[in-house]
Amino acid sequence: MKVGVPTEVKPDEYRVALTPAGVRELADAGHEVYVQSGAGLGSAIEDDAYARQGARIVPGAEELFGVADLIVKVKEPQQAEVARLEPRHTLFTFLHLAADPALTRGLAESGATCIAYETVEDDRGRLPLLAPMSEVAGKIATQAGAFMLEKPLGGRGILLGGVPGVAAANVVVIGGGVVGMNAAFIAIGMEATVYVYDRNIDRLRELDVAFGGRADTCFASTLEIEERLPDADLVIGAVLVHGARAPRVVTRAQLGMMKPHAVLVDVSIDQGGCFETSRPTTHSDPTFEIDGITHYCVTNMPGAVPVTSTYALTNATMPYVVHLASAGVARAVAENPGLKLGVNLAAGHVTYEHVAEATGITYVPVDDALADAVAR
Ligand SMILES: NC(=O)c1ccc[n+]([C@@H]2O[C@H](COP(=O)([O-])OP(=O)(O)OC[C@H]3O[C@@H](n4cnc5c(N)ncnc54)[C@H](O)[C@@H]3O)[C@@H](O)[C@H]2O)c1
Repeated sequence: MKVGVPTEVKPDEYRVALTPAGVRELADAGHEVYVQSGAGLGSAIEDDAYARQGARIVPGAEELFGVADLIVKVKEPQQAEVARLEPRHTLFTFLHLAADPALTRGLAESGATCIAYETVEDDRGRLPLLAPMSEVAGKIATQAGAFMLEKPLGGRGILLGGVPGVAAANVVVIGGGVVGMNAAFIAIGMEATVYVYDRNIDRLRELDVAFGGRADTCFASTLEIEERLPDADLVIGAVLVHGARAPRVVTRAQLGMMKPHAVLVDVSIDQGGCFETSRPTTHSDPTFEIDGITHYCVTNMPGAVPVTSTYALTNATMPYVVHLASAGVARAVAENPGLKLGVNLAAGHVTYEHVAEATGITYVPVDDALADAVAR
């Protein structure tokens, strides 16, 4: 198989989808790897480091998409990349399609098979390719929130951990999955007063043990969240329903209950956002204010720390890339039901139910769509 690694083109995105270690694994398995020149620079990986492990360096995206069959990326394809996709391509990357009907339609029109990192599951129903980025984003969420609470940045001017004689700030984390737990651990480490909300009681039990009394776990009913908001200094939104648009957990009306210049960090923004007033932002312009509340809604938070994130991501994705390259899509998904759940589009059809529901496009089961792809 010819595997291609383009340079990411989303603004402020410095990660790359394969490291030299990945090139080595693929080359050893008999595959040809093509890396766009400069693709690794944002993560401090030079072209030569790829070439030494057997990669062929190509000058631009056009050549890369022209030669490769399996395209491995980090972020959802931007318009110019969608235009380069053809039915022969398999695209393996983060997609977050439930929040983006236009991208879904563009990818359907390309006819490519598109596998989303964020809907691949392991044999316990967890999300092995989202988890490493959620660990990073959760840690950044608290760091960024603490920073945005500083007065010169428009925040309330409160120190997360307080000092002797002055109370710590209240951090409210809504969604206690991978992002939420990591956000809470950093907030605990910074000595804030921490509350974590979730609707899954088994998850709250696990968190309660993990926190060892250093944070409170709470059931995420509308009323309980509403009663907490007036005291909150920093609210981190980290909910997820696999593959679906994020549920709304704070409405615009509820912003009025909060302290002026409190901060909301919406990590779920890549799935459409879990606060009614959220809209996507970038690292270069990360915040905006609505009703006196600062909103931080960066869609690619791990992109800010590529030297950590690239390795965390590729450690998790690499075995899947090798499997896809060696077996081809049809056999790889037949052999791994969790990988099959990653297929969001094939042969022009939407093959993931939540994405079909959210975008209003007809759902076609993966097996039927893949059979259609073979028939063509
Ligand atoms: N912005 C970024 O750069 C970035 C980076 C990584 C992950 N994310 C996003 O962060 C979100 C969370 O990811 P994760 O890996 O932690 O997911 P996860 O599945 O591990 O955790 C989600 C948690 O939300 C809970 N939940 C679902 N609905 C809820 C509700 N209505 N109220 C309270 N809790 C609810 C679930 O029970 C679960 O515990 C996802 O949307 C993911 O895509 C964003």
